[in-house]
Amino acid sequence: MAMITTVQQHILQEQREQKEASGTFSWLLSGITLATKMVEAKIRAGGLTGMYGAAGAENVQGEQQQKLDVYANEALLHCLGMRDSVAALVSEEDEEPVRINRDPDGGKYIIVFDPLDGSSNIDVNVNVGTIFSVLRRAPGELEASILRPGYQQVAAGYVVYGPSTVLVYTTGNGVHGFTLDNSIGAYVLSAERMRMPEQGTYYSVNEAHAAEWPGAYRAYVDRLRAGGLGREYSSRYIGSLVADFHRTLLKGGVFLYPPTTKQPKGKLRLLYEANPLAMIAEQAGGMATDGAGRVLDIVPEGIHQRTSFCVGSRVEMEALAEGVRA
Ligand code: AHG
Ligand code: MN
Ligand code: MN
Repeated sequence: MAMITTVQQHILQEQREQKEASGTFSWLLSGITLATKMVEAKIRAGGLTGMYGAAGAENVQGEQQQKLDVYANEALLHCLGMRDSVAALVSEEDEEPVRINRDPDGGKYIIVFDPLDGSSNIDVNVNVGTIFSVLRRAPGELEASILRPGYQQVAAGYVVYGPSTVLVYTTGNGVHGFTLDNSIGAYVLSAERMRMPEQGTYYSVNEAHAAEWPGAYRAYVDRLRAGGLGREYSSRYIGSLVADFHRTLLKGGVFLYPPTTKQPKGKLRLLYEANPLAMIAEQAGGMATDGAGRVLDIVPEGIHQRTSFCVGSRVEMEALAEGVRA
């Protein structure tokens, strides 16, 4: 029987090669994967569990919370809240960080997450996801440990709930993909050292906002449409960042969420959307910018700070930098 490698085994192998205390980090990751399996079970059952629809409250973003947003958030808080290696949890759905272990010697990690990404797609049975980022708790004020540039992330990952449920993560030593095998309830290694193609044939952007983008983005998309990068492009936009990103990781191309008049700083959130995906993109040979500079160099000022977000293959991203910087 071809022996499988589960994500827990893989992270332990990774830790042996790295400085991270092996047991602690893999135990932490198991809290995240357990929560995603709880979410997957709810999604798999769809509307049968009464999980569709709005929860009837607004979140800190002023957005209508979906029932599944709330469920996913509670699952992550529950599964991670019992790991004493966790100093605090930062969620899209909670205004303030949730403190877990105040003992600076105990609580070594801060987990930042978007519990359910792509909420607008839940009720129409389209891929949604969970995105997470792991920071180490430094001595001093908790807030200072959270508001650090993305290049200081210890790990980053996401789960995309689709025809299959796939977990992709990195600890800074390459990008690895796992597929949930529900017959044994484990994420099984399915893609080691994933690399983003140098150039793709898809661009991914919400064209409805095109009139609101800065001109350089319109010129860039026109250039892609006109075959200016030597290839014919097709457009793909799912509206769930995790799904649009996952396709870009596998097939290459570029995903853009430019500034708009409504969201002059961009819509996507730096800490739990742009940073984790930027770390994965760079680890796979791709690039991620806010149009001007590297996402991972941005020093956050607030935990729910938004940013414009452009991520994808080297060729498309270098062409974008030429256009937007000019
Ligand atoms: P969330 O559901 O966590 O709020 O994220 C939704 C985000 C992201 O998933 C997606 O890329 C983007 O919203 C889509 O925004 P538009 O509908 O404005 O294109
Ligand atoms: Mn999101
Ligand atoms: Mn969300």
